[in-house]
Amino acid sequence: MKGGTLVLAVLAAATALTHAATIKNFPYLSCSKKLAAYSLNPIARTPDANTFCVTIRVAPPENCTSYCCGADLRKILIDVKPECVVRNPNIRVTLNDAPTKIGPAFEPGLYGPNDSFVLRLTQLGLNITTADGVELCISLARNSQGAGCLTMQELCKPPAGEVDGTCAVAMLDTQYDCCPVAKASSYVMPPPPPPPPASPAVLPAPEPCTTCVTLTRYEYFYVTLPLNFTSDECQAWSSMVTKDLSDVAGQLSAILLDLPPVVKCEDKMLQVCVKFASAAEGQKLEDVIYEMLQYWYFTAADPCKAYWRGGYSGVVTVDNGEGDGGGCLQTHVAMSCDPERIDFPKCKCDTRAGATPFFASPIMEKLPLAGSRTKDMLYCFQLYVRTPVYPESACGRTTNLLKAEIYANDAQRRKIKNILVMPNGANSSRVLATSWASPGEQTLKVTPLNWNLEQANGASICLVMDGSADILQFCNIGTCKIIFFDDTKNCCPLFEASV
Ligand SMILES: *[C@@H]1O[C@H](CO)[C@@H](O)[C@H](O)[C@H]1NC(C)=O
Ligand SMILES: *[C@@H]1O[C@H](CO)[C@@H](O)[C@H](O)[C@H]1NC(C)=O
Ligand SMILES: *[C@@H]1O[C@H](CO)[C@@H](O)[C@H](O)[C@H]1NC(C)=O
Ligand SMILES: *[C@@H]1O[C@H](CO)[C@@H](O)[C@H](O)[C@H]1NC(C)=O
Ligand SMILES: *[C@@H]1O[C@H](CO)[C@@H](O)[C@H](O)[C@H]1NC(C)=O
Repeated sequence: MKGGTLVLAVLAAATALTHAATIKNFPYLSCSKKLAAYSLNPIARTPDANTFCVTIRVAPPENCTSYCCGADLRKILIDVKPECVVRNPNIRVTLNDAPTKIGPAFEPGLYGPNDSFVLRLTQLGLNITTADGVELCISLARNSQGAGCLTMQELCKPPAGEVDGTCAVAMLDTQYDCCPVAKASSYVMPPPPPPPPASPAVLPAPEPCTTCVTLTRYEYFYVTLPLNFTSDECQAWSSMVTKDLSDVAGQLSAILLDLPPVVKCEDKMLQVCVKFASAAEGQKLEDVIYEMLQYWYFTAADPCKAYWRGGYSGVVTVDNGEGDGGGCLQTHVAMSCDPERIDFPKCKCDTRAGATPFFASPIMEKLPLAGSRTKDMLYCFQLYVRTPVYPESACGRTTNLLKAEIYANDAQRRKIKNILVMPNGANSSRVLATSWASPGEQTLKVTPLNWNLEQANGASICLVMDGSADILQFCNIGTCKIIFFDDTKNCCPLFEASV
């Protein structure tokens, strides 16, 4: 398929994005928590009231050859409570009793909410041969102004559902690609109660395993039209995921608890959570969950659609929904679609989006043409106006949208009947006859428009197509492309849109 080769990209690709969306969970950056070399002993040692020590463990999964299973350990982040973040903290950190090269520092969570903070320890210089058994100790004291937290209970922000005194610790490599999160607490398990006197053996009920499937949308900083998920999309996501999980669980005899799924719908995130009877039940899906994620990804976030590429991208994740990398099933999928190479426009002009103030939405609307006996359909580009990238340039100073041109398949000329154009503020649309450039140029003209900024903002350009037409074929497979000319015809920003 032309321009449709899919390239599998690990989530690391998402690190390249500037996160218009916030990462709510520690360590507040995109990196792989799974398949890692490092963890911690779950019980911290507390040599005195103001010191706690955690022991690093190196235990990559058997035969793991992925980068993170052999990565170094340069940096440790600890999730901390905002009230402990003080200037010039008086915190001493040692590795096997030797002070670290660089002192610890508080910093805000990189892409986290504005009240997220971490304690950063860096240049640790450890790796998979040297880190095992290394003890990291943190001693807390008030600073010269008498401020600062004094105990592990005060300092660490416990993971959701955990009590004070539990610390979430992320262990990062030099490239920031891997960030396994481990928990350590000074809380010591109480001894088990004595067994009740001889009574019929009752096995303890296993803990259910919460499993959440999440679709997140990320947008680059330059996106001028932030997109939100709609409640219909949320409904479609939750019913698809719930049904598929229940079908596959049935086929694999994995026991799902009979509870209504928990659904969360946010502007940039859709999530549905179910509960398996136990971790072992959930893990029965381990071999198929990645394929399921891929399928859901393509159904809900096809990366070849204009609104899932360019400045927009999506990630599908499965985990326990708490963002601590836990859960009996954990993986994620993010893909990209190869850019299309097209010879359009034929003339030489500045095609960069944002060259002029005129923009088109990546979402093309499809609606039936009211009153059409031949079941004609409307395919509409939606226009809007923003400050151009270089407002003082010749293109940036443009205030007139002279005409538009659409990249379209010459062989499909008969599928389009006419074009309805409607500027902002008009009460009805105007009909334009179709007009094509020379055969071979694959160019449908939308002229004249002559819209000023106010008229263009909220305007629409709708192709009236025969009911039998396939918009993908009409647009030459891929996304539909439109350019907007200024009076000089030197400026022609190009936009893609998909139904
Ligand atoms: C790891 O590799 C060895 C040798 O190839 C093999 O015998 C063993 O079964 C593998 N273990 C796992 C868990 O795949
Ligand atoms: C943090 O974010 C919240 C919610 O978005 C906002 O109400 C608050 O003013 C922000 N605080 C700061 C210090 O920016
Ligand atoms: C780990 O670090 C030690 C000491 O710096 C070095 O000798 C060793 O080669 C490193 N091992 C790996 C796997 O990088
Ligand atoms: C998305 O939601 C945000 C915040 O609720 C809102 O400001 C913005 O206008 C919405 N975007 C669209 C395209 O509706
Ligand atoms: C649109 O309709 C309103 C109310 O009927 C009228 O006042 C206005 O002048 C009309 N605008 C145009 C551009 O025809």
